[in-house]
Amino acid sequence: LSHPVIAIDGPSGVGKGTLAQYLCCKTGFNLLDSGAIYRALAFGALKSNISAENLPGLVNLAENLPVKFVDTSIIYEGEDVTSKVRNEEVAAAASIVAAIPEVRAALLKRQKGFAMAPGLVADGRDMGTVVFPQAPVKIFLTASAEVRAERRVNQLKSQGVSANIVQITSDIMARDERDRTRTTSPLVPASDSVIIDTSELSINQVCDKAIDLLWKAG
Ligand code: C5P
Repeated sequence: LSHPVIAIDGPSGVGKGTLAQYLCCKTGFNLLDSGAIYRALAFGALKSNISAENLPGLVNLAENLPVKFVDTSIIYEGEDVTSKVRNEEVAAAASIVAAIPEVRAALLKRQKGFAMAPGLVADGRDMGTVVFPQAPVKIFLTASAEVRAERRVNQLKSQGVSANIVQITSDIMARDERDRTRTTSPLVPASDSVIIDTSELSINQVCDKAIDLLWKAG
């Protein structure tokens, strides 16, 4: 790796995105939100009526995905889809297409390309295991499904969206199950990752721990 990478992996709603943004601010590193790439792919497939069974169609879309990341916005074919890709329908579709090995392979190069000077904070499920196995800092966040669902509901409420905790919990559990049990790049901690359980920690405490690891990695 020519530039340092901080790999952050873990299940949905565990606080990866918040931690990644915080670390980017602290370090001035670039950000890779790999979930947004899978979400953009799922969004594009839904938009163009490409089904999960249409492997050549999905791979072709993945190889030529017309998505751009501008500041904190996700732009698909010129349209700002930042909030559209954040819904549960797109999330569920993302985890279905993400289980297809050919789709993951087609998105690998693009993800690696985010490692630019001065460094990268990479957020996802397989950052430390597959995309950046040489990353000097690997963090794997965990928290119970209940805690994660509660955080998600609060996040939605703060955006003025009402949410059903029971439904959100079952959505999160279904998505995690699919992510954990797929054969290609399943959601597992890299053997050299540091596992942080965020259930009982505030975001500030999680950030302090991550900064500590960064110092130790030199
Ligand atoms: O992180 P986020 O919730 O945005 O990711 C959406 C979905 O994309 C995940 O549930 C997972 O199935 C997939 N994903 C993945 N590998 C990554 C990032 C996301 O398979 N590195």
